[in-house]
Amino acid sequence: MKIYQQNSIRLFLICIFISGIISCEEEKEQLGQGRIVRNFNNDWNFKLGQHPEAKSDSFDISDWRVLNVPHDWSIEGEFSEKHATEPEGGALPAGIGWYRKSFEIPEDWKDRKVFISFDGVYRNSEVWINGEYLGKRPFGYISFQYDLTPHLKFGESNIIAVKVDNSAQPNSRWYTGSGIYRNVYLIAKEKIYIDHWGSFVTTPFVSKDSAKVDLKVRIKNSVDDVKNIRTESRIFDKNNNQVAFQEEEIQVSAGDSVVVNQNFTISNPNLWDTENPYLYKVRTSVFNGDTLMDNSEIPLGIREFHFDAEKGFFLNGEHTKIHGVCLHHDNGALGAAINIHALARKLKLLKEMGTNAIRMAHNPPSPEMLELTDRMGFIVQDEAFDVWKKGKVDEDYQTSWDDWHEKDLKAMLYRDRNHPSIMMWSIGNEIREQFDSTGVELTRELVDIVKSIDTTRPVTIALTENIPEKNYIWQSGALDLLGFNYKHEAYEDLPNRFPDQKFLSSESVSGLMTRGHYDMPSDERRNWPPAHNAEFDGNDDYTVSAYDQVSAYWGSTHEATWKTVKKLDFMAGMFVWTGFDYLGEPIPYPYPARSSYFGIIDLAGFPKDVYYMYQSEWTDKDVLHVFPHWNWEEGKTVDVWAYYNNADEVELFLNGESLGTRSKEGDDLHVLWRVEYEPGTLRAVSRKDGKKVLERTIKTAGEPAKLELEPNKTELKADGNDMIFVTVNILDEEGILAPRADNLVKFQVSGGGKIVGVDNGYQASLESFKAEQRKAFNGKCLVIIQSNSKNEVVELTATSEGLQSESISIPINK
Ligand code: GAL
Repeated sequence: MKIYQQNSIRLFLICIFISGIISCEEEKEQLGQGRIVRNFNNDWNFKLGQHPEAKSDSFDISDWRVLNVPHDWSIEGEFSEKHATEPEGGALPAGIGWYRKSFEIPEDWKDRKVFISFDGVYRNSEVWINGEYLGKRPFGYISFQYDLTPHLKFGESNIIAVKVDNSAQPNSRWYTGSGIYRNVYLIAKEKIYIDHWGSFVTTPFVSKDSAKVDLKVRIKNSVDDVKNIRTESRIFDKNNNQVAFQEEEIQVSAGDSVVVNQNFTISNPNLWDTENPYLYKVRTSVFNGDTLMDNSEIPLGIREFHFDAEKGFFLNGEHTKIHGVCLHHDNGALGAAINIHALARKLKLLKEMGTNAIRMAHNPPSPEMLELTDRMGFIVQDEAFDVWKKGKVDEDYQTSWDDWHEKDLKAMLYRDRNHPSIMMWSIGNEIREQFDSTGVELTRELVDIVKSIDTTRPVTIALTENIPEKNYIWQSGALDLLGFNYKHEAYEDLPNRFPDQKFLSSESVSGLMTRGHYDMPSDERRNWPPAHNAEFDGNDDYTVSAYDQVSAYWGSTHEATWKTVKKLDFMAGMFVWTGFDYLGEPIPYPYPARSSYFGIIDLAGFPKDVYYMYQSEWTDKDVLHVFPHWNWEEGKTVDVWAYYNNADEVELFLNGESLGTRSKEGDDLHVLWRVEYEPGTLRAVSRKDGKKVLERTIKTAGEPAKLELEPNKTELKADGNDMIFVTVNILDEEGILAPRADNLVKFQVSGGGKIVGVDNGYQASLESFKAEQRKAFNGKCLVIIQSNSKNEVVELTATSEGLQSESISIPINK
């Protein structure tokens, strides 16, 4: 046993060392003891349509496709306004699909318990093992597992079949995707084991000098004898040094479970915050005698936070404004299929903008998303539901509410409660029950469920009704924190209407923009549409101006809401709708528009101009962003905006001649020049105390002449999972971005990679995301390459008729 312990610690240390994004399951398996976790993603068979016989092992599946999950079949389809998902759901096909996988279970697992764990299946999944029904899970965003043990054939081949039924439509107000779109694991435990999501770590006392850490671990004994169990828990710091240890012996009756409590003190703890998200790890090992029964690892972030009715939000005693964005779960061209590298790219872009918080709109996210928010330092609002008993579209979660809401809410809490990044539980978004008296009891019920599992975070909800007498959810008296969506003009009055309450702008702005498109005059404010179902005169090409001048009628410009939130101390912060464009909800346009215009960053991951407004306000780094491009008709009046910070003024020059110096006055967030266009060079200089801080130039581009490839990283791992995102820029002879170029770009990839998606961020493009070519939009497009497990350098070549082609090599990191 001693030897095992040393090995296990050594392996654990290696795991942490190499971990980053890699999991350690393989190493754990080699230990041959305790818990075995197998990635269960590869080699599924798949077929669209109804195949009820597929649950029996004799069924012929020779014409089924072989694929790896995470998989989303909707994103592979063609756009059509006839699809039952409607443009609001992304105008892609849904329907029914079956997955099947055959797998060997080793003979020596006979004395183990074997579980299958799904991180998420959209939606209405039903699962069979060797023809036996295991159960169904209607909610598409929740993680769940089944006990396979009684039905397994040990030492033989077994068949698992999964039916996914996303045919009842419409069931969402945004794109959902269809299929086993998150990770799947096979888990083999000894018969004495830590219960599923059975560990809970909290930090009841935190100071700079010391922190108390409480750990509760639920242990099950599923054998027929009473058992003596020893539980060892160790806390490791980021450098894998053990900083605390506790050991506990306890008896568990046959078939029973116990909760082991362990308390630790850590001196001079490294605190978790958004700048330095310091993570410890808690490793628990359960022994019967000298035999290891189970082991688990959970993250530990030591931090103290609270909301204050007058001063907003505090993290580790420091006043911290919540600079948040809402995110839906899709990954653009990849659809709903989860990939941690795609998520990491999104979060990195947001971090660089100064975002410190994410609202998971409006459903539990993937486990990988929370792993990243822990590691990268985001404050998270984890959200359960978009609807309760009263739905918003015909077939949404209302149809499952009565039977499932308690189980689903509990599953979210048990699964997510150890993530230090989570600092609020949201029980819903714009729930219709706020408008009638049924809201009172339902709110109390849901808050009670949350508090029965976790009392360390406030319970909140995103409300729209800000008149207390009309808001029944508020009247429940059960909420810890009031989230209000939109109506920023009323924020100032909230403390009068809701005395002594704590406030957050849970959703705001809903500005509309297409990257690289500009309508003038830039200060003409537009509500598109101007009112519910009202007509409006949009652009023929389904674009929306990227000056911060257009929003949905319930929203505001980005500047208007941020100015308000910034000056109100009691307002803990805001979550902008949204960080990224997402599939579906293409307000304000009808089909062929099929993805949203709300993002600060477009669907392909290219920032729109307003990104730099936030960066100038939410970070300390020097910012000077000048736009639009400089390709206009001679003599046209063009509005030139600059977002800047850390400077007193900006001077603009056109072809060497000064157009004047501007400074932000009052609460201004940008400066503007109205310029009569002539081709050439626009140059802006920001200055502080007369000294230059930054300089930017924008030049008139000539005809498109060549391609430029810009990868987001320099190497790929040969793990079959890693991804690289390559931006294609269409340049003129001189290397200047051609701002309206829409050339068709074709891609060829060889070596250790394959193309898994293409995009250009245009909300009304009907080109397929799963192709080897893409038209550029406003000078840019994107190709996404995933490693294919081969240890060969990836060669990417991009060609376009009449343009100079470009190739890059991406080394594989072994
Ligand atoms: C909000 C809603 C979001 C999204 C947004 C679009 O009211 O909560 O889910 O629909 O409007 O502006």
